[in-house]
Amino acid sequence: MNSAEIRQKFLDFFASKQHQVVPSAPIVVKDDPTLMFTNAGMNQFKDYFLGNKPAPYKRAVDTQKCLRVSGKHNDLEEVGYDTYHHTMFEMLGNWSFGDYFKKEALEWAWELLTEVYQLPKDRLYVSVFEGDEKDNLVKDQDAFDIWKTMISEERILFGSKKDNFWEMGDTGPCGPCSEIHIDLRPEEERAKVDGKDLVNNDHPQVVEIWNNVFMEFNRLADGSLVKLPAQHVDTGMGFERLCMAIQGKQSNYDTDAFQPLIQFVAQEAGVKYGDDEKTDIAIRVMSDHIRAIAFAIADGQLPSNNKAGYVIRRILRRAVRYGFTFLNFKKPFLYRLSEVLANQMAHVFPELKQQLSFVQRVIEEEENAFLRTLDNGLKRLDALEDKFKENNSTIDGKTAFELYDTFGFPLDLTALIAREKGLTVDEAGFDVEMEQQKNRSRNASTTEQSDWVVLQSDVTTEFIGYDCDTSDSHIVRYRQVKTKNKSEYHIVLDKTPFYAESGGQVGDQGYLISDSEQVEVLDTRKENDLILHITAKLPQNTEASFRSEIDAARRNLIRKNHSATHLLHAALRKVLGDHVQQRGSLVNERVLRFDFSHFAKVEDAQLREIERIVNERIRESIPLDEQRNVPVDEAKGMGAMALFGEKYGEFVRVITFGREHSVELCGGTHVYNTGQIGYFKIVSESSVAAGVRRIEAVTATAAEDFVQQQLNELNAVREILATQNNISGAVHKLQEDNKALQKQLEQFELKQLSSLKESLAQKAQSLNDVNFVAEKVEVSSSDYLKKLAFDLRQAVDNLVLVLASEIDGKPQIAVMLSDSIVSDKNLNASQLVRELAKEIKGGGGGQPFYATAGGKDTAGLASVSAKALELVKKSLNQ
Ligand code: SER
Repeated sequence: MNSAEIRQKFLDFFASKQHQVVPSAPIVVKDDPTLMFTNAGMNQFKDYFLGNKPAPYKRAVDTQKCLRVSGKHNDLEEVGYDTYHHTMFEMLGNWSFGDYFKKEALEWAWELLTEVYQLPKDRLYVSVFEGDEKDNLVKDQDAFDIWKTMISEERILFGSKKDNFWEMGDTGPCGPCSEIHIDLRPEEERAKVDGKDLVNNDHPQVVEIWNNVFMEFNRLADGSLVKLPAQHVDTGMGFERLCMAIQGKQSNYDTDAFQPLIQFVAQEAGVKYGDDEKTDIAIRVMSDHIRAIAFAIADGQLPSNNKAGYVIRRILRRAVRYGFTFLNFKKPFLYRLSEVLANQMAHVFPELKQQLSFVQRVIEEEENAFLRTLDNGLKRLDALEDKFKENNSTIDGKTAFELYDTFGFPLDLTALIAREKGLTVDEAGFDVEMEQQKNRSRNASTTEQSDWVVLQSDVTTEFIGYDCDTSDSHIVRYRQVKTKNKSEYHIVLDKTPFYAESGGQVGDQGYLISDSEQVEVLDTRKENDLILHITAKLPQNTEASFRSEIDAARRNLIRKNHSATHLLHAALRKVLGDHVQQRGSLVNERVLRFDFSHFAKVEDAQLREIERIVNERIRESIPLDEQRNVPVDEAKGMGAMALFGEKYGEFVRVITFGREHSVELCGGTHVYNTGQIGYFKIVSESSVAAGVRRIEAVTATAAEDFVQQQLNELNAVREILATQNNISGAVHKLQEDNKALQKQLEQFELKQLSSLKESLAQKAQSLNDVNFVAEKVEVSSSDYLKKLAFDLRQAVDNLVLVLASEIDGKPQIAVMLSDSIVSDKNLNASQLVRELAKEIKGGGGGQPFYATAGGKDTAGLASVSAKALELVKKSLNQ
């Protein structure tokens, strides 16, 4: 069975058991501050488990793109070394939201594995939770009894909290789980060691394939468990491992889910997979990491220097390093590998193929930048080699850490290079530095979050902000969040007009007003489906009735900018082409910022045309057509622009300004008529990343202010020039005049320099066969000082020349020697200038025949000539 069939059979099996087939959520998480990436299939359903939101269906099935590289579930460092851990993997899952529980879940799991996939029963083991005293939980007898009807008792193992109690993170939904493991070892080995003893022991051929979690609890911040309102099932089966089991392979990488990648890397590196453990690891690292990198970029996460972007950058760099060190890839390569992946995945995750050229460009640029960094790091190691040799042939911990931190050299790479140079690395010193940095970042980012104080349970927030600016509200729940520098409250209401930051549009600000007080709402944010009103203080009476009121004037400015963003998007596609895709946006009360894929600078004429089109739409006063509950496929059929990496529900909101102009899926707030935008003006166009351009623009009064400012500048210039017309002509003339004057000045200076040269040549003092000149001179630049020295070298034979001068307020010295002096006498310009530099409290150097120095003490210039004479005489033994 190939991997595509295996995936399809899973979906079909549960669909036949009345499960709704749902699409994978994006791999990059946008609305949950506790997570950067989807790390389990259940993430997108978290709110259903917690009872924050009713589930639209009772049963669901899917394959979810997951990434486990940060937070509680982090497999990064293992990846490549073993044969079954991955950064990105697919998790096949089936869910019950308050519907079926343990019996159905375990029976179906068994039926699917043994009857549909025909996995041999005598290779399977299952585990159930043994209970935990600390959490006051008893062993899972129910699961045990259910398993007993299907599998012999000796194959049912009891496991501890570590293996059999699944938690999403430090807090959140959790519950006991029952895992299914498979023993893939050959017969003879199975005869020797019982598979049972190898379960959960990191054996590469005795691995967990499926986890059935029985969600019953919520872990609170204080560590305690509370019962969830209902019981749920969350299962997750590692797709790649399942393929290994079904296809009878020894490694996930040997299945058809990985082979195309493995073979491409091996072929391009000119090695054979399986020949050498070192190159095999590197091939696996690259084949694995490209999946994490490409999927994350396609879902909208560009590599960057912080947060999720930094995680992607680190994965990419890890892949480049392994390729660079072990496979000799000295040029970008991963971007080519992403094409193999896109083709392979096209039938399940078409987003990769659809965005291939963009993804490739981003990866290639990152690779280039990191290869340059690696090169610089290597140079730094070379430059410090002598220092290390003096230091007992050891690279000190600080430098090793700097190489790691700044140049991305992990310790093993530094150690490898060290060995080649006959050096060792102070690993303990490195660990100390590493620990210190960890402490620094821990201190900087500690956040304490209290548990929710729930005033009304089972109440979901009604958002009325599309229609109203105010509402009557009650507090449903609140909590306090403290970081090092501030404390804030998150308040959830039963009904609110406050728009929570999303889709680039900033959150609303405003007030919660009761009879006795007024609390300012500083911001509104989302956490999954919760709308959090952020305040600095908690209302004294949290049970009061509030009037919640947004800052309507601010919101109106935001509306204008948001609608203008849609018009801009449409105009960009019209002028630049359909390849333009939104890559990010920011809409606030001052400005709109739109990032989009496009591979070249947007020309001025194009910008003017885009601006013209947007303003034309504004003047047409097109009414807003807002449809709130359109089935997602119907919306797409209307030609609505959807974003990659955005999670859309079954029903979406469609914002249209003229069918033929702008139709977008959007949750933001908009003007009722484009005329309200007033005026649109582009302020800047720039590059943000490879293949991504950014336009910043303003609307309404901000646009008028911007234009007025430009005019004010222009008027100021007019006044200075004392002319009303043809300003550019006048400025051009000024520039020409300036150039001409510059030329005259140069000629004048050159003339002066020439007479200075003559007079210095006259002054040459002969010290036997040496012509010695040392003078303090006046020149206007270092270039002229140099020219003077070189001209004198032409004019005077056997010259020893020392020039001292104050240039731009700083002392400078130049020493010039004829070749004959360098070869025949005991003199060197570089040494001489270093000695002389002491007079002006400075330093310098250069070549044996010409050297310069700068310093701090201009007064010292006066003594340079005398000192020079003394030094030269000494060297000449006079
Ligand atoms: N949430 C569980 C896991 O990730 C089962 O899906 O293993």
